[in-house]
Amino acid sequence: MIDFRFRRLRLNENLRRMTRRTQLSVDHFIYPLFVVPGEKVRTPIVSMPGVFQVSIDQVVREVQEVCELKIPAVLLFGQPTQKDVFGSQAYDDHGIVQRAIREIKSHLLPVVVISDVCLCAYTTHGHCGLVDKNQILNDETCEVLAKVALSHAKGGVDMVAPSDMMDGRVGFIRHVLDQQGFSNLPILSYAAKFASSFYGPFREAQHSTPQFGDRKSYQLDPANASEALREIEADIQEGADMVMVKPALPYLDILSRVRDITDIPLVAYQVSGEYVMIEAAAAKGYLDRERAILESLYAIRRAGADMIITYFAKEVAKILPRRG
Ligand code: PBG
Repeated sequence: MIDFRFRRLRLNENLRRMTRRTQLSVDHFIYPLFVVPGEKVRTPIVSMPGVFQVSIDQVVREVQEVCELKIPAVLLFGQPTQKDVFGSQAYDDHGIVQRAIREIKSHLLPVVVISDVCLCAYTTHGHCGLVDKNQILNDETCEVLAKVALSHAKGGVDMVAPSDMMDGRVGFIRHVLDQQGFSNLPILSYAAKFASSFYGPFREAQHSTPQFGDRKSYQLDPANASEALREIEADIQEGADMVMVKPALPYLDILSRVRDITDIPLVAYQVSGEYVMIEAAAAKGYLDRERAILESLYAIRRAGADMIITYFAKEVAKILPRRG
């Protein structure tokens, strides 16, 4: 009988490093940024300790720090000066995100600027699409989303990321971008986005909580896995360049199954609720913060994610060189 001794290769840190199958590198991180109206604004987000809302004049400073830390990409979210039922500031060429993109690009900062394409922060009702008789309209919303994506493209964005979960919007956006001369602009699709309670702190920050009903008529049911795979396949067929699973940690099975069926670059979003769970538990002394952060990110990468959107990105970029 063989005497199994798995522990032989765990005996010291060098052996563990040599046999480690999953790597964490700053190359894999995307840092979300929240841009708000005003000047010299740098407001801590109460529901997300350590995360700030910044005005356009401050956004460059944030991006400079991101660049110094060698984080390759940021994901921009915006707050309009005024919301309306159509979310019209979302596709205003002088809207907040469009101006932030121009500002970052004018400083020639070496960063991939990704923009969130959605309506929920821009509509009075807080839904991700246009509304008629309390129903969220699909195809009409796709047309508006394509206008949003196009206005970001004109501002010089490097990648657009539709997060609304309307059917067919990736194909729609791709078509409009191609027609308008932006055939080189990639689309990161929030392909498998679940109707999750873990977005709570983000919605607080973005004032994007639906004013009636919920998002269950467009986001995926947390109980369904194979439906998520169909969403992923559909978005790839429609022309998505990268696909996302969101949230991350409660959905590792989805990440792993997506990884099994496709080689397309796969992104996981470690969302606001996942972030605050670790922060809150660490603040109480219930968890070792640094270890919990790294473990959660290793788990997400191990499940199959190539890239991770995370509020911990700057933090991890500082931890990794120290840890080796
Ligand atoms: C908007 C959007 C949401 C998030 C990213 N884009 C919220 C939602 O769908 O309600 C959540 C991000 C987070 O929680 O960190 N469609």
